[in-house]
Amino acid sequence: MRQPLIAGNWKMNSSKADTTDLLNGIKAGIGEIRQAAVAVCPPFPYLYLAEEMLAGTAIAYGSQDLSPEPEGAFTGQVSAAMLKDFGCTYAIIGHSERRLFNAETDDIIAQKYAQAVKHGLTPILCVGETLEERESGKTEEVVAKHLDGVLDAHGVEAFKQGVIAYEPVWAIGTGVTATPEQAQDVHAFLRGRIAAKSQQVADLVQILYGGSMKPNNAEELIGQTDIDGGLIGGAALKAADFLAICKAGDANA
Ligand code: 13P
Repeated sequence: MRQPLIAGNWKMNSSKADTTDLLNGIKAGIGEIRQAAVAVCPPFPYLYLAEEMLAGTAIAYGSQDLSPEPEGAFTGQVSAAMLKDFGCTYAIIGHSERRLFNAETDDIIAQKYAQAVKHGLTPILCVGETLEERESGKTEEVVAKHLDGVLDAHGVEAFKQGVIAYEPVWAIGTGVTATPEQAQDVHAFLRGRIAAKSQQVADLVQILYGGSMKPNNAEELIGQTDIDGGLIGGAALKAADFLAICKAGDANA
């Protein structure tokens, strides 16, 4: 049985004051979460607050990105070693917003994946199709390409130290959620693609759903056989909503 994971992707939101409030709110309720693993991914500048405020709690934290390079003359980038230095557990990799706004390719994302694993971080690899791609029947082709970027570069064993997040682009921040059946179909496809190389890794790897997951739809989504939790955007910015989704994770443990 895979442990459910609920991870909050705060994106470019929050401030010192908001981060403090939100982390305090999540801390206040985390005692009620018994089975699910819980993580928050604030913007880089607030990771120090996560390190300070989450010490000794069951709440893990991570980054929303990292550099594909180990160190050196890469202005503005943040390395895996630096994130490890701040106590990060996770690093989100290949989010569709980075693929779109920062022209990230599957090759770059595979390099980021390797950097994360090399430094003991757990990469959360995001895959997902646009509405146009779904409507033209290309969903499986697109998510396979995103997955294969890492599979081909690093082999199936790399997914022993990683998490996958299926995030249909058309469901992100739109309030339109994939139906549990739509999400389950893609999750099963992704797990099957890994199983073709290693059943053991396929049984182990957590595959999260992301895209307008909210307290009112989380339990049904996470209840699907191949959905092992959620990567939460908007609803992760309110402690009560985020904790309610964590409880849905618990209910499916
Ligand atoms: P929303 O939950 O706001 O749709 O965002 C999902 C997401 O992109 C998480 O990475």
